[in-house]
Amino acid sequence: MAQTHDPMRSPYASALRDRPLPLAFVDLDALDQNLTRLLQPARTRGKRVRLATKSVRCPALIARAIHRSEGLITGLMTFSARETLQWAEHGATDLLMGYPIGGPHDAVLLVAANRHTRAAAMVDAPQHVAWLADAGRAAQLKLPVWLDLDMGWRPLAGTHIGVRRSPLRTPEDVVMLARLIADQPFLELRGLMGYEAHVAGLPDDGRLASWQNPMKRWIKERSWPDIVVRRGLAVAALHAEGLTPADGEFSCNGGGSGSVDRTAQDPSVTEITIGSGLLVGHLFDGYRGLDLAPALHFALAVTRAPSPGIVTCGGGGWIASGQSGADRLPMPVWPPGCTLLPVEGAGEVQTPVALPAGVQAAIGSPVIFRPAKSGELAEIFSEYLLLADGAVNAHAATYRGLGWNAWA
Ligand SMILES: Cc1ncc(COP(=O)(O)O)c(C=O)c1O
Repeated sequence: MAQTHDPMRSPYASALRDRPLPLAFVDLDALDQNLTRLLQPARTRGKRVRLATKSVRCPALIARAIHRSEGLITGLMTFSARETLQWAEHGATDLLMGYPIGGPHDAVLLVAANRHTRAAAMVDAPQHVAWLADAGRAAQLKLPVWLDLDMGWRPLAGTHIGVRRSPLRTPEDVVMLARLIADQPFLELRGLMGYEAHVAGLPDDGRLASWQNPMKRWIKERSWPDIVVRRGLAVAALHAEGLTPADGEFSCNGGGSGSVDRTAQDPSVTEITIGSGLLVGHLFDGYRGLDLAPALHFALAVTRAPSPGIVTCGGGGWIASGQSGADRLPMPVWPPGCTLLPVEGAGEVQTPVALPAGVQAAIGSPVIFRPAKSGELAEIFSEYLLLADGAVNAHAATYRGLGWNAWA
């Protein structure tokens, strides 16, 4: 006999009872547990931690993580100039925009941010330096600048494993750009970032295309020594050439949530970036030795039942960025065993879900999903319900809810 899905038996039952759907919620117990795990290697190795705002996009949650880090999280890695200024205006300190600016207008926004706090810019090209130098001169204000060292792995000529971002690959490359910065009276070099994306962003046990997993693990293992050597050589070259600040305050940032254990062991790294591992979109499952709990979910209402075994929910088509593929879709997790339909996926305004044999879901009842990525849902929902011990304890406005438009 068919069993009717009882939403009240979900672990989040009391949070969902009688609430308008859709809604998104954060399990604070899971979030706190993830934070503790992610901070542990930095704590042990005496490194600072920088929080990547893009992977949370909810200021109240970011404030909570900073507060609970007991001084370990000392700064934020922002992703756009407008967003950086918003953080500066809201009292954040030690900002680093982790990606280069796109024009003189962005340089002006960073100048404005530096009137409130230190907000560093990332450069990897003479053009970035020129825009920042002009803006600093016009404002008579010295701007902190970081260099972005590419950490891609090129084991054979013509190969490139890693992301395509910075063209700065060698100590000579970073020294050349650092000299341009040193020539500018309104710029000061404050750090170097070497983000090992092909280690930090690659799960060991990906759910889909699992045949690729051994190869991914091999890449992570084999490329690691090259990362440590090249990051160390770049920092050493800047020191040797006298291009680091006289006050000794020069930082080296590396890693992401997926590489905290390894990155903390790199002697040249002074600070580690974390982000996605706090809320754990499902793309962050499958990192060996990194036990993280899903902390972010959304619930959709069943709005129709087109045929036995299938219900259709309102909303849901919130596909994550990156290389398009099935892994970018949200993942239904309640009722247990329900799946998206391959022909429709998560739709523009409605999402059909196949129920496991013998389970029914009434119109109006919730279906719970996990997003693929951690930060992007905050551009869809205006607020997150915050749950502690399975009950709603507060609401937190997201970037969308606060009207923080990072791009335009
Ligand atoms: C420059 C940089 N550092 C660090 C990270 C790691 O962030 P997360 O912990 O959210 O994966 C990213 C993510 O893309 C990044 O772009």
